[in-house]
Amino acid sequence: KVPSVTDIGLKPRPVKKVAVIGGGLMGSGIATALILSNIYVILKEINSDFLFKGIKMIEVNVQGLVARKKLTKDRAVTALALLKGVLDYSEFKDVDMVIEAVIESIPLKQKIFSEIELACHSHCILVSDTSTIDLNLIGEKTQSQDRIVGAHFFSPAHVMPFLEIVRTEKTSAQVVLDLMEVGRAIKKVSVVVGNCAGFAVNRTFFPYSQSAHILVNLGLDVFRIDRLISSFGLPMGPFQLQDLVGYGVAVAVSKIFAEAFPDRTFRSPVVDLLIKDGRNGKKNGKGYYIYQKGIKPKPD
Ligand code: 3HC
Repeated sequence: KVPSVTDIGLKPRPVKKVAVIGGGLMGSGIATALILSNIYVILKEINSDFLFKGIKMIEVNVQGLVARKKLTKDRAVTALALLKGVLDYSEFKDVDMVIEAVIESIPLKQKIFSEIELACHSHCILVSDTSTIDLNLIGEKTQSQDRIVGAHFFSPAHVMPFLEIVRTEKTSAQVVLDLMEVGRAIKKVSVVVGNCAGFAVNRTFFPYSQSAHILVNLGLDVFRIDRLISSFGLPMGPFQLQDLVGYGVAVAVSKIFAEAFPDRTFRSPVVDLLIKDGRNGKKNGKGYYIYQKGIKPKPD
């Protein structure tokens, strides 16, 4: 029987210090959301160059909020003071929660989960920000499946209000409740879903994105589709969104869908062509669109 978070007697445990692993787009956005809610964050990267870039992205996120008059300068200074960059696990001993936000690689995530199982105390909540990978597989090499839970954030993670919490049949009700409380603290709308291919969001979102790719394959123009979808009322079209998120996620999601639903998955050749051309969307300034600071994205 899957335990319920409404089990009588359960109370969320305090989460005051969180380690975020990976200072890329997702990790830096998640770290930003946490420090803005007064949660102390240690950001771990594999080298000082990546760490510097991650911290810079967090500073830019916070400054963006100040520029939008959503945060005072004083609050920005207080929030950034809660952030510390690290290159190893030596400070993981007293964290309440670890959020892994690295690329969608199963062996890498398995390695990280084995390492954090050793580095953290035995009650630490072990979270993955995976968008599609089976959480049982991620925790396969650990003895801590009851502490493993998914927290699927959406880019830009410090702006988008939704949080998909993924529980497996082994995740304890306590851990789900703890993560829901963190979601509440960082002002997200949390929804608890099951551990299945694509979880709930990508089950919904992938067919939409795939339909756009089918239209392109039939000869329709990428930019026209984006324009039409924007005029329909969505903040951006499917291709601009793919540029925002980066192509690694798109490849990982379509691979998992192709395995789970081979009869209804269309694998577009377009993303592979963009990757071959050295493009990675907004992350490196070149995707379907060209991105330059301060200028509206230009179709390329
Ligand atoms: N920092 C802080 N706030 C920002 C911001 C930033 N950098 N950019 C935008 N915002 C806020 C604005 O202040 C505004 O808030 P308000 O409504 O309270 O005033 C709101 O976002 C809208 O901003 P704008 O009207 O200026 O419009 P923008 O075009 O600049 O918005 C956007 C940018 C919020 C990214 C918007 O385009 C959007 O919502 N796009 C869709 C994003 C999306 O769908 N993300 C999910 C991706 S899927 C994913 O991440 C899954 C994972 O597995 C990879």
